[in-house]
Amino acid sequence: MNFVAALSEKASKNISELEENIRQAISDDPFIFEACEPLIRGGKRLRPMLMLLCANAKNSCPNSRTMPLATALELIHTASLVHDDIIDTSKKRRGVETANSKYGAQIAVLIGDYLFAKAFQLVAENNYGAEVQLILSKLVKQLCIGEIMQDRSLFVVPTMSEYYRRINLKTAIFLSSCCRLGAIVAQLDDSEIERLAAYGTSLGLAFQIIDDLLDFCGDEKVTGKPRGGDLKSGVITLPVVRALSTSDEAPALKKIVTSETVTCTDIDAAIKIICATDAVDYCKTRAEAHIESARVNLPASLKISVALALEQIAEFVVDRTR
Ligand code: FPP
Ligand code: MG
Repeated sequence: MNFVAALSEKASKNISELEENIRQAISDDPFIFEACEPLIRGGKRLRPMLMLLCANAKNSCPNSRTMPLATALELIHTASLVHDDIIDTSKKRRGVETANSKYGAQIAVLIGDYLFAKAFQLVAENNYGAEVQLILSKLVKQLCIGEIMQDRSLFVVPTMSEYYRRINLKTAIFLSSCCRLGAIVAQLDDSEIERLAAYGTSLGLAFQIIDDLLDFCGDEKVTGKPRGGDLKSGVITLPVVRALSTSDEAPALKKIVTSETVTCTDIDAAIKIICATDAVDYCKTRAEAHIESARVNLPASLKISVALALEQIAEFVVDRTR
């Protein structure tokens, strides 16, 4: 199952229109199109889909009102991934070569900046108003703080609360903002906006926990990223934190994950130690608990089709393989 399968016929049509809007948004310049089209192609579209679903949660909202903002959200997300790959010196993303690997970090920074600027151009041209711009600006600031926090604590074992603060900044606030923006554009009432935003926060926490798990147990061909990437770049995530607190081999694991020079053999040894503990089940259980609170937060006033799609997206987030 993928996210699109969770959508009603109308929402699926919206996705085709979204794809067209995204392609158009990167078509102003031939080099940008050539560089960004392969990167943009492999995305799950989770963020714009959440925004579109929330905008249509009670009544239909015209696509002319929703599409530019949905497109901007995907562009901001892609820009952040382009920059993230430079920071992590990653070679593969969404199954294709990263911009930094293909063009070098200097050009890749500018590709990310371009996508980011294009997103804000779309928002300005479509008169979404100050509230929407404020949410987007705060979101990007928080993404940056999450990334800085991560970069300043590479090869350091985080406490549980430091881990949660990081994934909140990196992912949960983004998904929450997408839901909030959809609800605001559709002029839902304040309690509905807050409940949908809370759904997005819990969904985001679960999403990032599963993302961190897939780094160890995912199939590279499906995730589109090499296994053990977090470990190699010194990002210590929940499965490691859990394994360090339960494994008999915790000292050996700690030595590997806190070392700035690890070999592929070390990474394989670390993955083996982690997989021999309950870390995988533990992370899944925590992700499922967040999914449950996401579900509980869905307002009762939503259209059945949208409520169902949001519930299925929540289910997909814990069961996903990419
Ligand atoms: C991927 O997470 C990265 C992020 C969620 C955020 C990256 C944010 C920035 C670089 C700052 C914002 C910049 C702009 C231009 C908006 P991950 O590293 O956990 O996942 P991965 O395994 O897919 O790389
Ligand atoms: Mg990364």
